Amino acid sequence: MCGILGCIGVEDAAQVLHDGLKRLEYRGYDSAGIAVAHEGDIQVDKTAGRVEAIEPTHIPHSTFGLAHTRWATHGEPNEANAHPHTDCAGRIAIAHNGIIENHDELRQQLRQDGHAFTSTTDTEVIAHLIEDAYQATGDLGQALRQARHRLEGSYAILAVHADEPNLVVGTRHESPLVVGIDDGALYLASDIVAFREHTDRVVHLEDGDLVRLTPQGLIVDGQRTEPVQAEQVAWDLEDATKAGFPHFMLKEMHEQPRALREALTGRTQPGSIELNDGDTPTCSPSNETARDRGIDLAQVADHDQLIFIACGSSYNAALAAAHEFEQLAGIEARVERASEYEPNPWQTDRAAVVAVTQSGETADTLRALEAAKQAGFTTLAVTNTNGSTATRTAHGWVPIRAGPEISVAATKTFASQLAVLHNLAAHLAHLRGFTPDPRVREELDHLQDVPTQVQATLDEAGPANAVGQRLADHDRCFVLGSGPNHPLAEEIALKIKEISYVHAEAFPAGELKHGPLALVEEGTPVLALAPRTAEDPEAMISSMSEVAARGADVIAITDEPQPIEERGFQTVPVASKTEAGFVYSALVQGQRIAYQCAVERGCNVDKPRNLAKSVTVE
Ligand code: M6R
Repeated sequence: MCGILGCIGVEDAAQVLHDGLKRLEYRGYDSAGIAVAHEGDIQVDKTAGRVEAIEPTHIPHSTFGLAHTRWATHGEPNEANAHPHTDCAGRIAIAHNGIIENHDELRQQLRQDGHAFTSTTDTEVIAHLIEDAYQATGDLGQALRQARHRLEGSYAILAVHADEPNLVVGTRHESPLVVGIDDGALYLASDIVAFREHTDRVVHLEDGDLVRLTPQGLIVDGQRTEPVQAEQVAWDLEDATKAGFPHFMLKEMHEQPRALREALTGRTQPGSIELNDGDTPTCSPSNETARDRGIDLAQVADHDQLIFIACGSSYNAALAAAHEFEQLAGIEARVERASEYEPNPWQTDRAAVVAVTQSGETADTLRALEAAKQAGFTTLAVTNTNGSTATRTAHGWVPIRAGPEISVAATKTFASQLAVLHNLAAHLAHLRGFTPDPRVREELDHLQDVPTQVQATLDEAGPANAVGQRLADHDRCFVLGSGPNHPLAEEIALKIKEISYVHAEAFPAGELKHGPLALVEEGTPVLALAPRTAEDPEAMISSMSEVAARGADVIAITDEPQPIEERGFQTVPVASKTEAGFVYSALVQGQRIAYQCAVERGCNVDKPRNLAKSVTVE
């Protein structure tokens, strides 16, 4: 995944592009580059490594240009492979996010036609294709359109030409691209954060759109069935800055009470979740009409089974919520890893498919969603990103409203997804006329207290910080969680692994003796999720004793420390009153342990090695 940004009509393009790239670095940061047009030429500055290495004041003055921050997929991350790439004459510069699958074949043909390549990327073919098409058409927009017809894969592309002053063109196919509209200036980027400091008015582009930005305005050519409309962004720039925290992850963990309030506010009553955030469904660039896409929750409730498709933390959130759909709404719930999912067309009458995706742009999830839709399933997306491909692909979508999440590690979006899924289960129960067990209903009524409990847990950071520091001396650890807490254990283990590089594995406590116990040695750290409300709290204590007897260093995350401490175990306390409440508060302590461990080990908390925030390639 990479980040791209173009601008036009700005006072100092190099500075605007440089600032924007820094905000896009969560999408990739192994090389970067900026291209501006200056006195009839294109000036390109590139670097291997972070954008900081580029000095914007050394770039000639211009009012338009484009830029790129890269996460290498084809070709190693060096200066030659950094974008922007240019054509043979150096008159055209392009930036690309995505993968060109037929690049080998195109490169061969282009070489035969006399084009010379300077990089080993899949992207460079685009610059040469545009070069040929421009010679034939003399129009950069037309040239991009013609080049696009020869590309296979996923892409968002920006292009400028030295002979076309005051023009930036762009197009997308299965990669995000959004326009920002300011007075006299326009921006085009993979993500709103790149230009949010300048404007809050945006247009989400759709697959197949071709956009021309000029100082006079914006022209979108596509196969849209509705006019292009600007939308207002609902979050401030402050939401996308560290606001005094040392890391985005820590800030985003602290935003969880607010995010949970936002996810839950006014939505626990039957009828209060509306698909598409209450808006008329937008239409997709394919042949569908808006009417085809307009489903309501009653149509989802008609199904006996929900198949959740998701990756990573979103998968864990779906796994944690699946239990609620069964208990609260009497709907069978299956959770599939999106990368492995193949739809079974025999199930279309029985099941609806729900994609859970923070970004709404994860390639594996989008592929699975599209496949489900093609197979005839009713589809729904639960996402943090209005206007994302997932919202445009699914028949309906539910926003989680967590605000922008910059750190690669999902924290507040996991909590918000879980809360929204929890409410969705309650709404479906209502629509199905299903009467859940009174205890389950009571749990739901207590969901409103969760943000306050999470805040109280966040305020009690000392013990979790101490555990994180201790964990930093180890290479591996285990997280035990049973029943509804097993998905939570998986999520905590994922957080530890991805940001601190400590190998963390989650197990249901009962599984230990069937194999994993062999891995426990003197001093092995074991985190145990031990809620007071567990069906059999003693079962977890026996598992803890079992590993402690083999020398493990056992720490319980619990809402009832006393009986556990009396047995000689160390605890990390959490504030919660109910079974569901425990999951949210224990999550916060697990995140804190992972965070502190990563800080202690000197890891790059917000940008862990080898990872990017949203994985837009399969
Ligand atoms: O944007 P998505 O929710 O679809 O992303 C899915 C995963 O890539 C993501 O949850 C990933 O596992 C997290 N960054 C881990 O913290």
